[in-house]
Amino acid sequence: MTLTLAPLAGYTDKAFRMIASAFGAQETVTEMVSAEGLARKSVKTRALMEKFDESENLTLQLFGPDGDTFKRALKEFRWQEFSKIDINAGCPVAKVVKTGAGSALMRKPEIAGEIIHIIKEETGLKVSIKFRLGWDEGSINYLDFAETAVKSGADELTLHARTRSQLYSGQARKEHFKALRALFPKDESTSPLINASGDVFSAEDARLYLEEYGMDGVMFARGAIGNPFIFRETRKLLETGEYTLPSTEERIGTALRHLELAISFYGEQTAAREMRKVMMSYVKGIRNSSQIKAMMTTATCYQDYENALKLLAL
Ligand SMILES: Cc1cc2nc3c(=O)[nH]c(=O)nc-3n(C[C@H](O)[C@H](O)[C@H](O)COP(=O)(O)O)c2cc1C
Repeated sequence: MTLTLAPLAGYTDKAFRMIASAFGAQETVTEMVSAEGLARKSVKTRALMEKFDESENLTLQLFGPDGDTFKRALKEFRWQEFSKIDINAGCPVAKVVKTGAGSALMRKPEIAGEIIHIIKEETGLKVSIKFRLGWDEGSINYLDFAETAVKSGADELTLHARTRSQLYSGQARKEHFKALRALFPKDESTSPLINASGDVFSAEDARLYLEEYGMDGVMFARGAIGNPFIFRETRKLLETGEYTLPSTEERIGTALRHLELAISFYGEQTAAREMRKVMMSYVKGIRNSSQIKAMMTTATCYQDYENALKLLAL
């Protein structure tokens, strides 16, 4: 059973991946990286792909519209460093979809299949694909899509149980995980590994996917932002049937450690600015945190965040 930090554009940089791994994420995924950007040797794109250290079990997620783009991209970087390559067939953002990438691939399963085939042939790495239920309510096709992906060589599937048109709203429709599992039974050697994604906000949510729905793994996305403790909680719950929540001191310490890592990677000025949403997420849901959040909106250095977080301990 694999607990994975999901790809989250704008969040899962190496600082976050390092923190999540320290709390028990067994796999991490880069945020989505443009295959076209790689093919064009974009430096900005490459920054997203750095491991925090050699030991990281890192999957590279790529998005692109067709096999040729992926083929060109694979010539331009050391794919050997990654544990796996994941194809993004779920991103709903218009800018991505209009190029034929992300969830637009769900409308062209044969192209997704060709991409999988090309990556396998060129690299020999394990290949996974992350997709949705379908483009919209009228075109739910995840079972056919999954079948094409597996026939084309996919070793692993991740279903985000929403349609493209649902974006991130409404509830993930969990019943579909059962149908996907039924298509690829757990005990069959030809079955791919299946991960669940969607509404994993607690250790109990993760356990449900693993134990009730028979998933091989779970991806933690919004539920892990500002809450890397969820990995430890899930592992404890699975092992012992119970877990404890982090203390306020641990919350503060972890938020500051996350900031320190970002500072070590990007410098204090940049990190202080870019980490605002992340730092605020560490105090989300805590009573009386509005003053802390207000202080964070103007924070420009480590000390500003530390001063704000200290109020939590009062
Ligand atoms: C801010 C944000 C960025 C995301 N970026 C990516 C991404 O780069 N690649 C991807 O496959 N999914 C991405 N996702 C989708 C998540 O990985 C996940 O599938 C989705 O949030 C559902 O899980 P949740 O309901 O537990 O958050 C993103 C989601 C959010 C909210």
